[in-house]
Amino acid sequence: MHTPVIGTSDGDLRVMVLREFNAATYQLRLHTDARSPKIGRIANDPAMAVLAYDAEAKVQIRVRGVGAVKTTGADIDAIWDEATNFAKRCYLAEQGPSSVSARQTSGLPGWAEGINPTADQIAPARQNFAVLYITVTEFDWLYLANTGHRRARITILPDRAGWKGEWLVP
Ligand SMILES: Cc1cc2nc3c(=O)[nH]c(=O)nc-3n(C[C@H](O)[C@H](O)[C@H](O)COP(=O)(O)O)c2cc1C
Repeated sequence: MHTPVIGTSDGDLRVMVLREFNAATYQLRLHTDARSPKIGRIANDPAMAVLAYDAEAKVQIRVRGVGAVKTTGADIDAIWDEATNFAKRCYLAEQGPSSVSARQTSGLPGWAEGINPTADQIAPARQNFAVLYITVTEFDWLYLANTGHRRARITILPDRAGWKGEWLVP
């Protein structure tokens, strides 16, 4: 479930890397480019969906949640500092994701292609880095078994006052 499908309220879907799940706050953490169109869509309507399947565990998870994007603050600086310069390189793209280009392109400035940038070279990329938090409000757990599948819906109670679960027919 390292690369779930992330859905925005406009119905668009994309694969993203799941960086962390905080079990205390029920928050998923993902990283993205602050210039990406999905940032504006989440600001307009923060309703989000997440879909993940672990083929080995035979478990599907379907999440409903609320998105929030953060670009500044000591916490975001610390997350940025943890990433390798190579991982940070995609945030050097000269134009944001989904910008139309006259030719096929990585979006990176020519000098950045095929290199592992230095700390100085990577510094301007910080302004394009955003963290997307999705706070889980409800999720659907489906376990596939030859003996009979199992399914449950878990609802997170407001103010993190625990959760409520109910079995569903798969
Ligand atoms: C395996 C994989 C991992 C990806 N990880 C991320 C990610 O962590 N963050 C991200 O913004 N896009 C990631 N992408 C790219 C997105 O799927 C998508 O193409 C990009 O974010 C642009 O989406 P948008 O037009 O909805 O903003 C990943 C794609 C793949 C195939």
